[in-house]
Amino acid sequence: MATTPADRSPESTLAFFREGYRFISNRCERYDTDIFTARFLLEPTIFLRGRAAAELFYDPERFRRAGAAPKRGQRTLTGQGGVQGLDGPAHTDRKAMFMSIMTPSAVERIGRLFADEWRIRLAAWGGGGPVVLRDEVGPMLLRAVCAWAGVPLPESEVGRRNAQMQAMIDGPAALGPRHWRGLRGRLRAERWIADLVERVRVGTVAAPEGSALAVIAEHRDAEGRLLPRRVAAVELINVLRPTVAVDRYVLFAALALHDHPDWRDRVRAGDEPTEWFVQEVRRYYPFFPVAFARVRHPFEWHGHHFPTDRRVLLDLYGTNHHPGIWSEPERFRPERFAGWRDDPYGFVPQGGGSHLGGHRCAGEWITIELMKQAVGLLTGAMDYRLPPQDLALDLSKVPTLPPSGLVLADVRGMP
Ligand code: HEM
Repeated sequence: MATTPADRSPESTLAFFREGYRFISNRCERYDTDIFTARFLLEPTIFLRGRAAAELFYDPERFRRAGAAPKRGQRTLTGQGGVQGLDGPAHTDRKAMFMSIMTPSAVERIGRLFADEWRIRLAAWGGGGPVVLRDEVGPMLLRAVCAWAGVPLPESEVGRRNAQMQAMIDGPAALGPRHWRGLRGRLRAERWIADLVERVRVGTVAAPEGSALAVIAEHRDAEGRLLPRRVAAVELINVLRPTVAVDRYVLFAALALHDHPDWRDRVRAGDEPTEWFVQEVRRYYPFFPVAFARVRHPFEWHGHHFPTDRRVLLDLYGTNHHPGIWSEPERFRPERFAGWRDDPYGFVPQGGGSHLGGHRCAGEWITIELMKQAVGLLTGAMDYRLPPQDLALDLSKVPTLPPSGLVLADVRGMP
């Protein structure tokens, strides 16, 4: 049996908080491996990265999700009782509910709603003052996704609800006040959406047919039972929150356009380069660092032992930057996606494997569509410049953003 490299530190949780996105790769490079063990969150844990490891990780016969994600992530980011923690037929049923919402025409529609919101705001940005993109894109996405999902959202509530979504996204890997804001954000958002679900069920709010609100509020499991109100709220928030989180990719896309101005002209020239550009933004920039699972039954893999119930982390960021998969992984080169075919285990910004049969992100197509719209608007609908500001990404912070929030100046709409 191969000896699995073991990190010698008695407990690695603090190192993870210190090193962030590079924690797993740092050790893989140190031990010249794609698998090692360490104590993490007070228990022995197996860390994996790379294509072969991802293929293993997304095998539902080997791993389960129930009890895998740390509690602090559930209390802020994902909530409890949702699709992320389900396995087997219960997962298949719940995931089919999500994927039924993601038809090509629905994906196109949310893209249009977002672009409409952007154009409305663009008219206001023309006043001359600086525009902080971080403060603008989340509310636009929230308005768009609520309109799309059938969730009523009075304009007076946009700021507050956006803050709740942002707090949930920011909360899982944070300590102290940032984490507490995440807990509060989740509590309040769940109360809001659970109440809405109830009103749809008793008929005092009409949910548009086929909308996420209608589909989730009315979903029945294999035994014909409606989802408990709180779980339905968790699932609807599983649509709203991550759509708002696409604002981070939009900021990264704006940053990439700034750092690689030649790509501004290339994406203006056509659809294909826009697709490559968006994929490279998803590969290159850091967002979701890892996915969690637990071993179902003991097994050996390339001579490494996986005992029952052992927690396993797959490094998503490190796989997207793996030198064995990507040439010059630390360079931003959208042209690498020319002629590229889906690689469900080598390219995993939103998880790997299959959408319907596994835990790969249900919102991947929506994400790509929203990013394409944003890149089209940034390059084709407006002129602006970036004044001097701090754009350096801190990879030790999870999730991370340019500290300035991306300030645009002299914004003008183009005819
Ligand atoms: C799952 C990333 C946008 C809905 C996931 C996973 C990741 C991820 C890493 C977990 C994969 C795993 O556990 O193996 C992202 C990123 C996004 C994004 C980086 C862009 C900001 C979206 C959007 C939606 C969405 C727009 C819905 C409209 C979901 C759902 C799951 C999920 C429902 C759970 C799937 C399951 O457990 O079967 N996402 N996501 N995500 N995502 Fe996303």
